[in-house]
This record gives sequence, structure tokens and C-alpha cells, in this order.
Amino acid sequence: MQTPPVCNYEGSDYQSSFWDEGGREYEDAAEALALKKLLPASGRALLELGAGAGRNTLRYPGYSQITLLDYSHTQLEQARERLGDSIRYRFVAADIYRLPFMPQVFDGATMIRTLHHMADAPAALGQVCRVLTPGGTFILEFANKRNLKAMARYFFRRQKWSPYTAQPEEFAALNFDFHPRAVLGWLRDLGFSVEKMLTVSHFRMGLLKRMFSPKFLVRLESLIQWTGRYWQFSPSVFLRARTKLDETAEILPGFFACPACRTPLHDTPPQITCPTCGRVYPVANGIYDFRIEPEPES
Ligand SMILES: C[S@@+](CC[C@H](N)C(=O)[O-])C[C@H]1O[C@@H](n2cnc3c(N)ncnc32)[C@H](O)[C@@H]1O
Repeated sequence: MQTPPVCNYEGSDYQSSFWDEGGREYEDAAEALALKKLLPASGRALLELGAGAGRNTLRYPGYSQITLLDYSHTQLEQARERLGDSIRYRFVAADIYRLPFMPQVFDGATMIRTLHHMADAPAALGQVCRVLTPGGTFILEFANKRNLKAMARYFFRRQKWSPYTAQPEEFAALNFDFHPRAVLGWLRDLGFSVEKMLTVSHFRMGLLKRMFSPKFLVRLESLIQWTGRYWQFSPSVFLRARTKLDETAEILPGFFACPACRTPLHDTPPQITCPTCGRVYPVANGIYDFRIEPEPES
């Protein structure tokens, strides 16, 4: 199965350059606030998709087990360094389009600042749906193409693309902004029901960030995030969705499944071998590696 290309963060200093030294205290705190409002009080097993260096992982205190999944091995190494070795965390290098898990093994999932790298967003969301239990919670962040800045730029003819159309806008290679209507439609088609929606990072503007402290901007932000329920004009949108309840759903034993052929796998470090297709997946320094080399183009 050919899957869409992956936006490669291998070797990237994203966490330090973008967050730690990038002047984004306001955005980081605004996202923490949104997560707090959306997360359930407790849960069993959480899948953090596109976990990066684990910037958000400590914000999920209610979950007993957290699986950090990212395509980039070096991002996971940074996450492991940040979080330390603990049986609470599992680090998995894999492609979101080929999740290496059995169906319905997580009762929660988060995907923050990651959908915007998905060239086939519905396929990625379909994978998330597959591994969530019926009634499972999914917290999704997406980059909103219909934001105030894009609307103003379009109005004054400073930008060619329309912020009002449903198709994703690829503003840089493998970086997409989405229309809220499109994201809600994909979730609905997969059987998710959206329970809550928050607009986030309303004040992501250089001038405002220079004029006011992050603390002040976050205080203002906390007063208006809830309006996301009615309209979404901020650059970032967070939502909580739930998979359909299904009393008849059959729970299959096991946790890992081969990302290539979906055969159930036994967790046998230092390597896991698929009994069906024979692929071998290494487990080294606490990181499971389920990445599959893309097939060469013919
Ligand atoms: C912008 S970073 C966000 C990291 C983290 N969620 C945060 O908010 O700090 C996006 C992450 O998604 C990961 N990613 C992108 N495409 C992926 C894919 N197809 N499968 C798994 N991870 C992917 C990247 O490696 C990167 O770590």
C-alpha cells in the first residue's frame, strides 16, 4: 500500500528553535489552556499522534498509559529525554497512515499541530478512528484556513487563494491549512461526534505579542476560546470528538499489529518479527521502530 509522503522532522531542532527560543510562550500557554478544557478527567490508554519532543505529554495527567507516536526517531529521543524512562510511557516511531496497533486499543487520542502535515487528512483520521475504542475521546488541533488574517488578505487582494473554499490549502510543501467545514465533514463521515470546539491563538500577531505580556494575552484568550462553538476565525482550532458507541464491537487481544499487513504481533524486544510478512521491527533504547521504507516510484 502506497501512503502519502511524510513531512520529515528527523534531526530537526523544532522544539528548541520553535518553542523554547521562538517567542511562543503565548501560543504554548493558549494550547495548554485549550487542552485543559477538553481533556477528560481520567482515562486508560492515550495515543499522542505526532508527539514530537513531548511538549504536551505532561499535560495528560489523567491517563494511566501514554503512547507517544512520531515518524521522527530523533523527536522521540528528545521526548524520552524530557519525560524519562517510565512504564507510563511507550515511544513508537511509525507513520500515522500505517498505525502499528490492533483495533480499539486506546480510549483516548490527541493530535496537536500534526494534521497540518497530512496530505490525505481523511485517511489519517480514519486510522485514528480504527484504533480508538467505541466511545473513545479524540482531541484534535487543526490549522484553520478561514482565519481573520487570511480573510483580510484575501479581501485586500494580498492573497490569491480563498479562505472560504473547503479544499485544504498547501501553503508550503506538506503544510496544510484546513477549512473547519471540511474537518467536521471528515469526522462526521467516520462516525465521530464533535462535543466541543475551541478557537485558539486569537492573538498570534507580532505587534500584539510585542505590546502585551503572554500572561495578559492568555487571560484575554481564556475569555474567548469558547466562542469556537459558534464561529472559527482564529488560526488554530481545537476540538473534542467521540467515536460511536458500539455495544457489539468485538475486542481483539493484543496491542501491536504489523503496519504493513495488520497481523497481530507479540511484543518481543529487542525486535518484533511479523509471522505473516516477515518484516522485522527493531526496539532499541526504549523506542519501537515500525517505520517502513516508502516503495520506490516506478
Ligand atoms: C509540528 S510538530 C508537532 C509536535 C507536537 N505535537 C507539538 O505540538 O509540539 C509535527 C510532528 O508530526 C510528526 N509527523 C508528521 N507527519 C507524520 C506522520 N505521517 N506520521 C507520524 N508523525 C508525523 C513530525 O515528525 C513532528 O514531530
